[in-house]
Amino acid sequence: MSQRLLELALVWVHGLSAAAWFGAIFYRTLVVDGKALGFFPRRADYEHFSTHLAHNMRYFVSAGLLVCGLSGFALAGLKWEAAGDTWLALVIAKGTLWLGACGLFAYVSWVHWKWRACASPEEFEGYRREGQRLAGAMVLLSGTGFALGQACRVLAW
Ligand code: HEM
Repeated sequence: MSQRLLELALVWVHGLSAAAWFGAIFYRTLVVDGKALGFFPRRADYEHFSTHLAHNMRYFVSAGLLVCGLSGFALAGLKWEAAGDTWLALVIAKGTLWLGACGLFAYVSWVHWKWRACASPEEFEGYRREGQRLAGAMVLLSGTGFALGQACRVLAW
């Protein structure tokens, strides 16, 4: 019974942190960015707004990624012994995706944003396009993590 409760709590934490992470990056990329670009007549104001929006967000995103990963590894540990080969392959793929997402986020936050914040007006467009591509890759990584998580559950049916 207590193992079942622990599993339920971990599934809740894991699902909620994954949903918050996916929702934030999806909304930022597909809604906020386009609206902000249309809202500010001067391109420099849009860039300042984007930098302001991103300021200090790395701590929230890092926390979300960490909670999602740690709860995922704890869940995997709980279910490891009863698992079949396909389930194990899916969970290993999820771990790999998560590591990829951590690496991508570190690059965006510690490398790309610094360059973007210091860009000259001639460089704005190139950095914005690169930022959109990186954010799209993040949406894809977290979306695939969701799909694989659901696939793991389906195996138990
Ligand atoms: C890439 C980011 C990730 C996302 C978006 C994600 C998302 C999900 C979702 C939506 C579920 C299903 C929850 C439910 O409906 O019950 C799930 C289950 C699970 N995830 Fe993740 N996850 C991610 C990363 C990880 C990592 C890094 C691990 C550990 C290696 C992991 C291990 C698990 C396990 C063991 C389950 C339970 C599967 C089962 O019940 O058979 N996940 N995940």
